[in-house]
This record gives sequence, structure tokens and C-alpha cells, in this order.
Amino acid sequence: MTASPTSTPARRLHVITHGCQMNVYDSGRMADVLAPLGYAPTAIPEEADMVILNTCHIRDRAAEKVFSELGKLRVMKQAREARGERMILAVAGCVAQAEGAEIVARAPFVDIVLGPQTYHRLPEMVARAARAGGAVIETDFPAEQKFDFLPEAAAPQGVTAFLTVQEGCDKFCSFCVVPYTRGAEASRPEAAIVAEARRLAAQGTREITLLGQNVNAWHGAGADGRPATLGRLIRAIATIPGIIRIRYTTSHPRDMDDALIAAHAEIPALMPFLHLPVQSGSDRMLATMNRRHTAAEYLATIARLREARPDVALSSDFIVGHPGETEADFEATLDLVRAVGFAQAFSFKYSARPGTPAAGAGQQVPEEVKDRRLHELQALLRAQTARFNAGCVGLDIPVLVTHRGRHPGQIVGRAPWLQPVHLLGATDLIGSEIRVRILEAHTNSLAATQIEERACA
Ligand code: SAH
Ligand code: SF4
Ligand code: F3S
Repeated sequence: MTASPTSTPARRLHVITHGCQMNVYDSGRMADVLAPLGYAPTAIPEEADMVILNTCHIRDRAAEKVFSELGKLRVMKQAREARGERMILAVAGCVAQAEGAEIVARAPFVDIVLGPQTYHRLPEMVARAARAGGAVIETDFPAEQKFDFLPEAAAPQGVTAFLTVQEGCDKFCSFCVVPYTRGAEASRPEAAIVAEARRLAAQGTREITLLGQNVNAWHGAGADGRPATLGRLIRAIATIPGIIRIRYTTSHPRDMDDALIAAHAEIPALMPFLHLPVQSGSDRMLATMNRRHTAAEYLATIARLREARPDVALSSDFIVGHPGETEADFEATLDLVRAVGFAQAFSFKYSARPGTPAAGAGQQVPEEVKDRRLHELQALLRAQTARFNAGCVGLDIPVLVTHRGRHPGQIVGRAPWLQPVHLLGATDLIGSEIRVRILEAHTNSLAATQIEERACA
């Protein structure tokens, strides 16, 4: 059968995603943008007509890793060219934004370099790349919001889904590259977010995680056109039939307002888990980092949250070895960790990011000191996670079943506090919330048994 002149040719797209959940969301949306051009996803890069490498610049030798990955993709691209076929290679995300010119200079075989705020223009970039000899670079921060230009029809995400509601950051923490790679803070309007959440619900999504670099700084236009805050947005999403669980990440301690804390008390669909990065427990370091709050203020916020929702579990991010960090500062971080008791946490060695204030600062901390502090902090955090998970054993809790397990008859779900839960059960439970009893705690997951035959939602 010959294709009709109006049909789009079948093409294959492979997307590689690094970095945060916002990059995961962006990768999905880039696939949505390219779908009308005939691009369908493939898991095999060698057979892709287009490969997008969606990069992260937050820590370590991010750019070097990108170049080494590009080296491998170049070999695949050349193999296809040897067969008379074409592979369009695009570098997207935060390394692309920060190092666009460098990428084109060092990897001239790259066809497209695009920043996180320009991917609605991908079809035009692909057309230009097909014509042009050199690379197409789009790393400006356009006046238009990409969300206004993205197609509505998004590919289904599954039982749990991400939904970006806010982008960018105006906080300028001393160590962080995000304000430079993602640009200024911008919030999507409530109506657009609710419409996207409804579409996700219609496609089978039951749990939505609202995303933003500073998600609780969300201040989009409410349904009545007046500015609203995140607490109200969460209330609106909780009314959507089919959406039974809501989360949001990542929050800044400064933006935990009363309405948001009240939402934790009043909205059962809002899960009792909050990732609230603190970075350090030392007021001196918090000031140096430009975090704009003290350790005591952070602890007070946690106390208010726990009052509102006594079963709330907490997670955080920590940086050890930021320039100027002394042994006493580090001890203050350990004290804060002991005072809070985290269910989970991420901790990192400070990594100098070109162009950020801390990178040029004096008093850089020696690598071996960072190593030791990280080791000590992680031992404490690991013990807290183990204690938290052990405390779940014997509890009867609701679990949202998300997918099939690796073993025969096994299904996997998600606890309210985000741990994966393994149990035996029928696959038709996928997409339902069921009641289970937790039998065992492992390092990063729980084992359970179903205690009611019927799904509870
Ligand atoms: N918006 C979030 C964090 C985004 S980046 C917030 O305000 O907390 C995710 C985490 O990466 C940060 O919380 C921080 O712990 C870590 N991070 C960011 N820049 C870093 C750097 N230069 N070195 C080490 N860790 C860093
Ligand atoms: Fe980075 Fe700070 Fe903004 Fe978080 S609040 S994204 S750590 S600058
Ligand atoms: Fe990385 Fe950019 Fe996210 S630097 S953490 S991909 S905002």
C-alpha cells in the first residue's frame, strides 16, 4: 500500500533523560511536540531517526558526561549515515542552555541545541536542521511561554504522572545553576493546569505530582483570573474525578505559606509526604548560601506541618562542603537532621558550578573533608530511613498499585510516604488504591499483603 500524500511518514524518536523530574516531564512533552511530525518512541537508539539527549547541569562533571555520551551517539549516527539514513541529534536541557556554543564547537555532528524554554519550537528546528548544514541553536528565553504553544494531546503517562505548574527560579542560591539554566520564575494559569490534570485522569492517571523548581512559589492566575497560591491549586485538582492522590515537589522552605499547610490538614488526597530541601543546619551557612531562612525557621515550619498532618513524613536535600563550611557548621547540620528525623533524604558534596557566586568564593573545602562529611551525614540519614521504614511494619495502609512486579504474580504499588510496596496480587488492580498490611521493610521498599479483596478506590 502506498502512503497517501497527506499522511506523515513513520519516524522513530529516542529520548535519553538525565536530571530532575522536570526533565522527565519535558522529555514527554518533547515527544508530544514531535508526534504530529510522525515521530513515535523507540527504546533502541540505533534505530532512531532522531535522538534527544535531555541533560542536567546541577552537579559534578555534567558537561563532560554529555560529551562522552555524545561520542557514543556519534558512532550510531555515522553507522546510519553509512546505510544512507539520517539521525538527527539534539541536545536539550540545562547543559544545552549553559553550554550551547561549547557543544556546537566540540561536537559539530550535533544538529540541534535547545534550552528548556524553547522546545515548543522543535518542529521548526527539525525542519531547519533538515535544510541547514550547521547546527540549529535555540537557547534564548523567549517572551512567549512554551506551554501556550504545546499540543494538547499528551501521550498517557500512566497511573502516576508529573505535571509542571511552575518553571524557573528567582532565588539565586549561591551554589545553584538553575536560575541561569531555567530562567526566571513563571507560573502556568490554574485553568491550563486543571485541564491537563483532567486529561491525565481521563487517560488513567490516579496520582499527580505537581512540579516546579520552586513549586510552592506557584502564583498563577486562579480560575477567577486573580492570582492564586499552591494551596488553592491543590484544592482545585483534588476535585477532579479519578485523581485520588496529589503530591508536589520541589518546595522552598520560604514559600510554605499558611494556606499550603492548611491544605495538608484538609485535603485527604494530598499525600502525607513532603520534600523540603534545607541544604544545611547552620545559620551561618544558610546565610552564605542565600537561602533566606534560619534553621529555627525550618524547624518551626516542620512543626506546623506536623501539627496539620501528624503522619507527614519528611525528605530533604543537603549539601556538604559548601565554601566556608566549618566543622561546627557541619555539626549543626547533623543536629538539624537529628531534630527532624527524615524518612528519606538526598545529600551531595558541593560541586562548583561555573558562573555561580559560590564557585568563585574563597575557602573552598578540600575534597577529602567533603568525602568524610558526606559519609557521616549519609550514615545518619540511612539510619533514619531504616527506622522510618521499620516503623511501617504492621501498619494497614492504602497503596496505589502502579505496575507489574518482576516476579510472577507480583504487583508493585506506592505507599503514601512514597516507598515502593511489593505484594502478590492480580494485575487488574493496577490503577486502584488497595488496603495492605506491611509485612517487612527493606532498604528502599516495603513488602505487604492485601487485606481487603476489593479495591478501595
Ligand atoms: N529547587 C530546589 C532544588 C533544586 S536542585 C531547592 O530550592 O531546594 C536539587 C538539589 O541539588 C538541591 O536541593 C541541592 O541540594 C543540590 N545542588 C544544587 N546545586 C548543587 C551544587 N552546586 N553542588 C551540590 N549540590 C547541589
Ligand atoms: Fe536552586 Fe536555590 Fe532556586 Fe532551588 S531555590 S532551584 S537551590 S537557586
Ligand atoms: Fe538538572 Fe536542570 Fe533539573 S540542572 S536538576 S535538569 S533543572
